[in-house]
Amino acid sequence: MSNIFYVGIDLGTSRTSLATSTGKRITARTCVGYPKDIVSRKRFGKAYLLGDEALANRLGLNMIWPLGEGVIRNDEKSVEATGLILRHIIAEALPEKKESDKIYAAVGVPAQASLTNKRAIIDITRDIIDKILIVSEPFAVAYSVDRFDEVLIIDIGAGTTDLCRMHGSVPEAEDQITLKIAGNFLDEVITEAILEKFPQVQLTPQIVRRIKEKYGYVSDVSEPVKVTLTEKGIPSEYEITEILRESCLKLTQPVCEAVQKLVGTFDADFQEKLRNNIIIAGGGSRLKGIDRAVEKSLENYGGGNAATVQDAEYCGSIGALKMAMEMPEEYWEKI
Ligand SMILES: Nc1ncnc2c1ncn2[C@@H]1O[C@H](COP(=O)(O)OP(=O)(O)OP(=O)(O)O)[C@@H](O)[C@H]1O
Ligand SMILES: [Mg+2]
Repeated sequence: MSNIFYVGIDLGTSRTSLATSTGKRITARTCVGYPKDIVSRKRFGKAYLLGDEALANRLGLNMIWPLGEGVIRNDEKSVEATGLILRHIIAEALPEKKESDKIYAAVGVPAQASLTNKRAIIDITRDIIDKILIVSEPFAVAYSVDRFDEVLIIDIGAGTTDLCRMHGSVPEAEDQITLKIAGNFLDEVITEAILEKFPQVQLTPQIVRRIKEKYGYVSDVSEPVKVTLTEKGIPSEYEITEILRESCLKLTQPVCEAVQKLVGTFDADFQEKLRNNIIIAGGGSRLKGIDRAVEKSLENYGGGNAATVQDAEYCGSIGALKMAMEMPEEYWEKI
């Protein structure tokens, strides 16, 4: 007897999440570290480290982040690294899988991913899964919250922000906008802004990301944000309240403009419904005040109502899993 396992995969620039029909949920950073030299090879005792383990040991590793702007980078190393991550995360999620069992996986890709990107995913997963369904990420988010009526999904990831308006059928090109302005972009903006004011402080991508995730905000007011940073190793406290807000607005402003565009070009009879049903997903949805910022940007349009998803980490993979489990046989691509 062979079983079919269904999995939903959200292959993201910063994180890959997976949900299975057996109820498992796993998430891992989308990175692989290869030992830098003979010393680190000996220390780690293996050819590569994955995800958080790699990040924690990154000083001894050459780090590969195989996705850029939501899609797999077009080079051999990235393709290999993506395969390693997917293979590992699937094996970890389905320890009970036997040789004869089958895996049917729905994989989320950015709304406007090209055919080449989709082919790359199919090629990479060829010997890991048996049948594949490539799904649009914002569509997967809508699925995860069971919304198939008029709703506007905003998925703010690390590499891209994907916006998509739903209207009860498969979204078309004019329903979608992909911005390359997302979490990674915001990290760069914050880094530049801090260094402009305090040129001597020592920053790493990890430090900046932690500051952003803990204190980032776009609300009108915030308690003062003071962080401890070092200058030539000597720690002091730095006040970055205003720097942080201005930086975060550089992410939310273009997102709000894209929202206005998708509302403004929608069927006039349904614009009000769309304005009042905005769902914000992805890691960026955790930015404090982002829902209000989107609502405020719609004041001239008659107002709006935006909510952030409960489970930013898994809503993409859970939506993909739901689609996988409901999809009739003829929609699957056999690989
Ligand atoms: N509290 C927070 N405030 C602001 N940003 C956050 C917060 N928590 C996470 N993020 C950011 O969200 C981003 C990760 O989001 P997510 O996991 O949805 O991205 P992804 O799916 O890997 O990327 P993509 O969809 O672009 O491929 C990172 O840039 C992370 O720093
Ligand atoms: Mg994503």
